[in-house]
Amino acid sequence: MKIVMIGAGYVGLVSGACFSDFGHEVVVVDKDEERVSRLEKGEIPIYEPGLEDLVARNRLAGRLSFSTSLPVAMDRAQAVFIAVGTPARRGDGFADLTYVYAAAEEIARAWTEPCVVVCKSTVPIGTNREVLRRIKAIRPDAAVEVASNPEFLREGSAIEDFKRPDRVVVGAESEAAKDAMRRLYRPLSLNETPILFTGLETAELIKYAANAFLATKITFINEIADLCEKVGANVQEVARGIGLDRRIGSKFLHAGPGYGGSCFPKDTLAMARTAQDFGAPVRLVETTIAVNDARKAAMAERVIAACGGTVAGKTIAVLGLTFKPETDDMREAPSLVMVPRLIEAGAAVRAFDPAGMAHAQSLLPAAVQYATNALDAVTGADALVLLTEWNEFRALAPDRLKAAMRGDVLLDLRNVYDPAAMREAGFRYSSIGRP
Ligand SMILES: NC(=O)c1ccc[n+]([C@@H]2O[C@H](COP(=O)([O-])OP(=O)(O)OC[C@H]3O[C@@H](n4cnc5c(N)ncnc54)[C@H](O)[C@@H]3O)[C@@H](O)[C@H]2O)c1
Repeated sequence: MKIVMIGAGYVGLVSGACFSDFGHEVVVVDKDEERVSRLEKGEIPIYEPGLEDLVARNRLAGRLSFSTSLPVAMDRAQAVFIAVGTPARRGDGFADLTYVYAAAEEIARAWTEPCVVVCKSTVPIGTNREVLRRIKAIRPDAAVEVASNPEFLREGSAIEDFKRPDRVVVGAESEAAKDAMRRLYRPLSLNETPILFTGLETAELIKYAANAFLATKITFINEIADLCEKVGANVQEVARGIGLDRRIGSKFLHAGPGYGGSCFPKDTLAMARTAQDFGAPVRLVETTIAVNDARKAAMAERVIAACGGTVAGKTIAVLGLTFKPETDDMREAPSLVMVPRLIEAGAAVRAFDPAGMAHAQSLLPAAVQYATNALDAVTGADALVLLTEWNEFRALAPDRLKAAMRGDVLLDLRNVYDPAAMREAGFRYSSIGRP
């Protein structure tokens, strides 16, 4: 099939490349000319393991191309995906649908042949119907069906997630739309991936409910971690003890500095707003949002407390700035709350992140110093804060770390280090929810 993917971001680029790898002909369209020209030169504008090879292979095979022109890309297209951003709207937290509706209107103006318009962006209840309404308002003659196909991939393992998903969710009302979606995802039938066909509103809600549930699960274990610290219990053992219960499951039970990223913060907020608007408030989700915001803010205070009540004049090394490892995505990362607060409190911050520093520089205060590697970041530091659990930080030798530093404070906000080994190396070590 011929597919157009509107948006060459994390979702559009990965989905487009994976669909081309399934054998479909894919044109990924973005209005960011620089992004498209980099892609045409074989450069990948985001950090995602395996993506460069996947894109190169499918471009060479002639199945994947990039364009800034939707009308040209839409020639012969049977499915047009909308994979543009849906950030939180300033002020009220509702999803900003400007980009989605702009894309819908561009599709209407470029339309020439029957096709399915598929919304892959995470969008609130009613958006798919509104997309169809807007297309028809511009082109009443357009033979267009809509389908909702929310995406569940995770940055850092996006290709594997797309190619081996737990399930594919498709909201569609017409047989033609269902049939097109079946053909698009046919390669997944080899590994027996369930394709769940639902109505449009149900598909839209599944995505929000999934993210709200996962955000709540993380927030739950974070609160349990706080309780562990008070009672002398170990949160990792509690997580294992409950996670082995198959009704609960072991995923998303890692205590840490609070969730961030491009999805959970905005999607929980949008879900809470939608639910309020429909008169069925989701209080559990509202509480999750409040608890998580407070947690992120409290992390800087933890660092200050670990440094003896003040960081004024001290140098703090921060390892990891992105919201999680294996991505360069800085959206809503805990570092964006912690680092400015430490600087405000008088600290000098030396940071290192394997992929996030280019983005971080435009988001963090200018006073932050960026190191060339982890050891460079800790050299001469009074305290070390492990903020994102990149693999390369796990293997750092405790003795070498300690020898490079001036001070002895180590705050492990991801529980990656062995407390005994760190204390033996001379650190005053503390972590999250562990004695
Ligand atoms: N990032 C994730 O891990 C993830 C996972 C699942 C779902 N989602 C959802 O997928 C959607 C996209 O997220 P993302 O992280 O890929 O966004 P992104 O910000 O990385 O990329 C969006 C891209 O769309 C382009 N764009 C916007 N309007 C356009 C238009 N009219 N025509 C052409 N290009 C246009 C932008 O230039 C940008 O390159 C969001 O709704 C998000 O919630 C994201």
